[in-house]
Amino acid sequence: MSHIAGDLAAEDIEAYLKAHEGKSMLRLITCGSVDDGKSTLIGRLLYESKLVFEDHLAALEADSKAVGTQGGELDFALLVDGLSAEREQGITIDVAYRFFTTEARKFIVADTPGHEQYTRNMVTGASTADLAVILIDARKGVLTQTRRHSYLVNLLGIRHIVLAVNKLDLVDYDEAVFNQIVADYQAFADELGMGEIVAIPMSALRGDNITERSGSTPWYTGPTLIEHLETVDVEVDLQAEPFRMPVQWVNRPNLDFRGFAGQIASGTVAVGDALQVLPSGQRSTVAKIFVGDVEVTEAVADQSVTITLTDEIDVSRGDVLATDANPPGVADQFEAHIVWMSDYPMLPGRPYLLKIGTRTVGVTVDHPKYKVNVNSLERTTAATLELNDIGVCNISLDRTIAFDPYTENRQMGGFILVDRFNSATVGAGLLQFSLRRSSNVHWQNTEVNKEARAALKGQRPALVWLTGLSGAGKTTIANALERKLYALGRHTYLLDGDNVRHGLSRDLGFTNGDRVENIRRVSEVSNLMLDAGLIVIASFISPFRSERYLAKTRVQPGEFIEVFVDTPLEVCEQRDPKGLFKKVRSGEIANFTGVDSTYEAPRAPDVRIDTTVTSPEDAAEQIIELLERRSTNE
Ligand code: ADX
Repeated sequence: MSHIAGDLAAEDIEAYLKAHEGKSMLRLITCGSVDDGKSTLIGRLLYESKLVFEDHLAALEADSKAVGTQGGELDFALLVDGLSAEREQGITIDVAYRFFTTEARKFIVADTPGHEQYTRNMVTGASTADLAVILIDARKGVLTQTRRHSYLVNLLGIRHIVLAVNKLDLVDYDEAVFNQIVADYQAFADELGMGEIVAIPMSALRGDNITERSGSTPWYTGPTLIEHLETVDVEVDLQAEPFRMPVQWVNRPNLDFRGFAGQIASGTVAVGDALQVLPSGQRSTVAKIFVGDVEVTEAVADQSVTITLTDEIDVSRGDVLATDANPPGVADQFEAHIVWMSDYPMLPGRPYLLKIGTRTVGVTVDHPKYKVNVNSLERTTAATLELNDIGVCNISLDRTIAFDPYTENRQMGGFILVDRFNSATVGAGLLQFSLRRSSNVHWQNTEVNKEARAALKGQRPALVWLTGLSGAGKTTIANALERKLYALGRHTYLLDGDNVRHGLSRDLGFTNGDRVENIRRVSEVSNLMLDAGLIVIASFISPFRSERYLAKTRVQPGEFIEVFVDTPLEVCEQRDPKGLFKKVRSGEIANFTGVDSTYEAPRAPDVRIDTTVTSPEDAAEQIIELLERRSTNE
């Protein structure tokens, strides 16, 4: 294996690094399960590139003799599986990235578990890969899981596929078996519209057609796996696309220099090129380009650069620099594919964060239009998306972004969804297209506006939001508050949970999804009432932080007052004003807040009322004081 450069490592780290500097990088993902020989294949690639350390090797020899499945021969699967046994429990999103190198190229292999319950891991690994190796056990042929892996690989835009027909030694290196599998797979791939497929007959265990051509497959004239991985051209794809660079940060060391730093997502850029800054649409021309400290005249996809422009225009982190000749789209509503990655199901209407490129914006996801059965590729209806589900949904952002459809540009059309409160990644998605309604519906500015309506009433609009358990005393306090405000000549309206559920939210029950929708509707109605100049008192259990946050951000800064009506569950149960706890305990009511449905108490409410020591009248007074303070501080 003279072409493998791993040996250098031991001799001279400097020489080693230098030898690798100029090489291109191929990112690949291996799809298959341990049964298909995936671990053996990766183990062999690492072994043959001599990146397995000596002590690992000694351990491998000992383990192979003791517990190996290969009669004392080196069992490469042990090398990989030993490292990943824990990972296969799959508690968190976990992809092992393994590095190996040959004289021609550097490689990063994303190694992910292959079972259906690990769809999210596979998506994570595949999202950055240029090429996928799809492993097939020659004895079994194309299986359900092969289809699943191929669907995901295709969905995630991997255009280079190696069909690794493995374990050929177990079918006597039979050409007919190989040809049949390739034909089966090709038929399926055509259905999906997949990219280039290179099929290689191999035995990862015996080393046939991995780095060395096998004497056992004289009928095969194509490349070995390594030959193909070393020569497949993946760079041209990215550079041929229009220029895009999400701005990572604005570099302003002194008043004379203002550069925009980031990694070029696609295309090439040269001094003198006409650019647009998106989403604003301002135009300018490239003045200078730096790679590190070195000034260059041109740069290409994947390079990290700093660009200066000839004009002083407004550019900030998260904006996209793009070629003026072919700019990306700008929109705030999309149809998207979403892969759900959280143990908690997706909640339509809940405010999540969406990260795309270097930009983070607020987003809500509609009910799925359908979800895709990744095994049969059938579409089914779904109320929500659960862990590992893939669905198509409309999404709505709180700001416009620059984007390209994912199929045209993975970085400009790929995003992740993040929980606002614990920062966990809950999903990944692909933008398909923008919805025309986003550019056709505008907010109409009416002549008599919010300020005018509020001025006529002589008050500052506000939304007083009471949250707490059922039976906590929200309605009693809300009543007292409205009575006092009325006496002060204020124009008010009281939105109460039970009442709203007789009309506006009549169709909703008490699942998490229904509660999210209930609060979303109430937030929208409250916003309209504030626009009418009113002081709105909203009294809802509103058990989740995310939706109270939604209500807060729906109105203008300073208008939202969160009141936590803090009554311990035992006290609510003792009071049981509507006899509901009795029904809960006898099993007549399920999903009851505080009992078998979550209540997330506010962490920093504007007012906290401990109803075991504060009377409803005093509570109302406290809230009025705060309201008065706010309107005089204006
Ligand atoms: S929320 O969770 O969506 O904010 P909301 O405040 O509108 O709830 O309605 C709560 C009222 O519905 C309670 O005060 C109670 O009277 C009634 N209710 C009936 N079933 C339930 C339940 N399973 N959980 C909570 N409240 C319930």
